[in-house]
Amino acid sequence: MMPARRRRFAFGVALAGALMAGTLAAGAQNTPDFRGAPFTMQGGEAVYRGVCQGCHMSDAKGAAGAGIYPALANNPKLASTGYVLSMVIKGRKGMPPFGDQFTNQQIADVVNYVRTHFGNRYKGEVQAADVRTLR
Ligand code: HEC
Repeated sequence: MMPARRRRFAFGVALAGALMAGTLAAGAQNTPDFRGAPFTMQGGEAVYRGVCQGCHMSDAKGAAGAGIYPALANNPKLASTGYVLSMVIKGRKGMPPFGDQFTNQQIADVVNYVRTHFGNRYKGEVQAADVRTLR
C-alpha cells in the first residue's frame, strides 16, 4: 500500500497539472513561449494553428492586449510574398523571427496558407527554394 504522504503528493501533482491545463486554455490569447524547439508540424494550416494563431488569433483578425497583433485577414500587405517571407524568417519588433525553427518547406507552406485564407486570395505560390534564396 502507498504511504499517506506519497498519496498526498500524487494528488498535489495531479491538481497542479489540472490547474496548469486550465491556465493554458484560458491563456490562449497570451503570447506563447517559443524558446528552443524546432517545430514539427507539417502543412500550412498546422503551422498556422500551432504557432501563428497564438498571436494573430484563430480567425487571423489579430488582437490588442499586452501587445498589438495585426490582422492577417484581408490584409493587402500579404500580396507581397517577399514581405510575408521576411516577416516569418526575420521577424520585426513584436513578431519573433522563426527562420531557425522552421524548415524551408514549413515556411513556404505557412506563407502560402495565410496568403490564400482569411479573405486573402493572392496568387504566386512560394516554394521551399524561394525560402532558401531569401535566407
Ligand atoms: C509572438 C507573437 C506572434 C507570433 C507567434 C506570430 N506573429 Fe506575426 N506578428 C506579430 C506582431 C506583434 C506583428 C507586428 C510587427 C510589427 O509591428 O512590426 C506581426 C506581424 C506579422 C505580419 C505583418 C503584418 C502587417 O500587416 O504588416 C505577418 C505577415 C505575420 N506577422 C505573419 C505571421 C505568421 C505567418 C506567423 C506564424 C508563422 C506569425 N506571424 C506568428 C506577432 C506574432
